[in-house]
Parts: sequence; C-alpha cells; structure tokens
Amino acid sequence: MTEESKVANLFDLTGKTVVVTGAASGIGVGIAEVAAEAGALVVIVDREQGAAEHQAQALIDAGGKAAALHIDLADEASVVDGCREIVARHGTPWGLVNNAGVQDRELLLESTTAEWDRTLTINARGPYLTTRELGRAMVAGGNGGRIVNIASVALLGGLIKGHAAYASSKTALIGLTRASALELIEHRITVNLVLPGGVATPGAIHATGPLVDGPARRPPPLGLNEPRDIGAAVLFFLTPAAARVTNQSLAVEAGWALT
Ligand SMILES: NC(=O)c1ccc[n+]([C@@H]2O[C@H](COP(=O)([O-])OP(=O)(O)OC[C@H]3O[C@@H](n4cnc5c(N)ncnc54)[C@H](O)[C@@H]3O)[C@@H](O)[C@H]2O)c1
Repeated sequence: MTEESKVANLFDLTGKTVVVTGAASGIGVGIAEVAAEAGALVVIVDREQGAAEHQAQALIDAGGKAAALHIDLADEASVVDGCREIVARHGTPWGLVNNAGVQDRELLLESTTAEWDRTLTINARGPYLTTRELGRAMVAGGNGGRIVNIASVALLGGLIKGHAAYASSKTALIGLTRASALELIEHRITVNLVLPGGVATPGAIHATGPLVDGPARRPPPLGLNEPRDIGAAVLFFLTPAAARVTNQSLAVEAGWALT
C-alpha cells in the first residue's frame, strides 16, 4: 500500500484548486461545501457576483479556502477572460465542475428558438467553453486533472413537460463527456458525469413555464436529494480514489428510476 492509497488520503483534496460553476446557489453550494471540506481551494464561478462572494465567505468562515469570480457562461469572452484570471490568481486548477445551468420550461409546440438558444448556450456551450479553456491550462500544467459535468436524471427517462431544450442541453453533456474523456485521457485528465435527481433548489423552485406535469413528478423512494448528496458523488470523481475512473456516469436519484 502506498501513502497515497491510504483511505485518509484517497478522498483528500488538500493543495488542489477546484472550480465549481454556478456555486452561488443550490446544488453548486453543496458541491463547493463538500470539496472545501475535503481540503480544496474552491473557486466559485457564477454570473451572480454578490451571491458568489457571499458563498465564498461562508466557506472561509467554515474553515475552508475559497474565492469567487464573475463569469457569464453565455458569453465566450467572459469565459475565456475568466478562465485566464483563475489560472493567474490560483494557478492551474485540479478540478472543474460544470454545474451551472438553467431549467426553465416551455411546451414544445409553443416554444421559441430564443429559449432553446438560451438554454443550450448556458447548459451545453458553457461547459464546452470551460472544458476547452481550463482543459488547455490543465494540459499545460502537466499534472492531470478532473472534470465533472452535471447533467440530470431526466436522461434516464421520465421527464416533465416543457423540457425539450433542457433535456437536449443535458443530453449534449453525454457527448461532451465522452469526447473530452477521449481527448484528455493522454494527459491524465478524467471526465465524468453526475446525474442529479430532483433537488429543491432556488433554480428548480423558481423555474418559469407551465405547471410541473409529467411522469418525473413521482416522489423518489429515498426522499428528495440534498445538494450535498450531489456534492458527495462529485467529490468521488475529484479525488485520488477515482484516479482510474473516466467516461463514467453516476446518478444520485434516491431510487427514483425503480418506481
Ligand atoms: N435542482 C434539480 O432538481 C436538478 C436536477 C437535475 C439537474 N440539475 C442541474 O444542476 C445544476 C444546478 O442546478 P440548481 O438546481 O442548483 O440551480 P440554481 O438555479 O439554484 O443554481 C444555478 C446557478 O447557476 C448560475 N448560472 C446560471 N446561468 C449562468 C451563467 N450564464 N453564467 C454563470 N452562472 C450561471 C446561477 O446564477 C445559479 O447560481 C444545473 O445544471 C441543473 O440543470 C438540477
């Protein structure tokens, strides 16, 4: 047994920087908390600067290491400049969690290209851009790295109505995960997918659109997921424990697919 493979070290992120997009709210807060408690310096990236700074301070007050940075994932220049800023301030990141996303609904036959484009731009093009920019930095750094994409259990079947754009944007992350896992494996950068089930976040509660209706409304047998449940699954992929795990997906959905 090497020092690195001891259980205490398998889940330790001390000395590593992890970037979490959308960590000013909801699931991202749970991911950021868990990563910070594992020892990482967590960079909270969000378009809501005040909320991002507030969450970074909360992590620091809890004894962790954190920073906040404004990036609008819908704006390529903002992503490029922001990723450059992350490397300048904190060095090459070890981990990137593509968590930020929008989840508003429009019924298919009443839907608009504007909403389709907005959803795909943030939920699919955003992770592509951050993967490209921080992937380049990880390759240049030469120490490997970890990328975790946050999709949705909607990919396993059972939707609510109004999610044509949303489900399509999350399906794109399956392709992005596979393609980037292939191209980055030679640099010891792993890319994996976490599929959350329902979590009562501000984004889910305040999502706009028609009333929530459809097969995915059924309750999960193990109860509603908490943001830290998703954080724990993400943590696994970020840690030394998952050194040889890439191109995989893990659903955290409280037994929902069994019902
Ligand atoms: N809540 C659920 O039930 C659920 C289920 C499955 C998957 N998800 C996914 O989990 C992720 C987090 O969702 P959540 O429920 O915590 O939502 P949330 O709205 O509470 O948090 C999302 C965060 O992303 C940020 N964000 C949105 N657009 C951005 C942009 N253009 N640039 C930068 N930041 C931006 C928001 O400001 C917010 O802080 C999303 O990808 C969502 O699709 C959520």
